Amino acid sequence: MAEQIIIPPAKAPVLRLMTMPADTNPAGDIFGGWVMAQVDIAGGIAAAQRARSRVATVAVNSFQFKQPISVGDVVSFYAEIVKTGRTSITVDVLVVAERHPENPVTVKVTEATLTYVALDANGNKRELPQP
Ligand SMILES: CC(C)(COP(=O)(O)OP(=O)(O)OC[C@H]1O[C@@H](n2cnc3c(N)ncnc32)[C@H](O)[C@@H]1OP(=O)(O)O)[C@@H](O)C(=O)NCCC(=O)NCCS
Repeated sequence: MAEQIIIPPAKAPVLRLMTMPADTNPAGDIFGGWVMAQVDIAGGIAAAQRARSRVATVAVNSFQFKQPISVGDVVSFYAEIVKTGRTSITVDVLVVAERHPENPVTVKVTEATLTYVALDANGNKRELPQP
């Protein structure tokens, strides 16, 4: 399947890093569980900024791996808050990979939606502050 080259959002990613051999699965691609962990961190950063407190992940609503990620790809995680409730924040996370530095392309590799809950210092859910 041809890679779908995309234009990433104009805003800054919340997380950006280069993938390493330690992050691979037995086939040599980047392990899906590693991607899921980074997506959870990226969405959690955006949610905690909005909540102005720690947050806990309460649900992974959707998660789609669209293209494999390779060692050496530069991976950027973009987070957008799409919904807030009384205590919860739902975040879309878009993951793009920049590959082939000699002839660079940027492709969409993962899309996910997660919901976080704002927590107080005791770990109990708390109401979101005004934005
Ligand atoms: C997060 C936690 C404190 C929420 O407590 P709770 O009593 O279950 O909370 P509620 O059922 O009242 O739900 C809280 C909010 O989350 C939302 N929510 C709960 N389950 C959800 C789901 N499956 N999908 C989407 N939203 C969900 C509720 O709609 C509510 O939102 P609102 O206040 O904005 O209306 C508790 O479930 C918990 O500690 N879970 C474990 C968290 C964790 O360990 N995460 C993994 C590591 S970070």
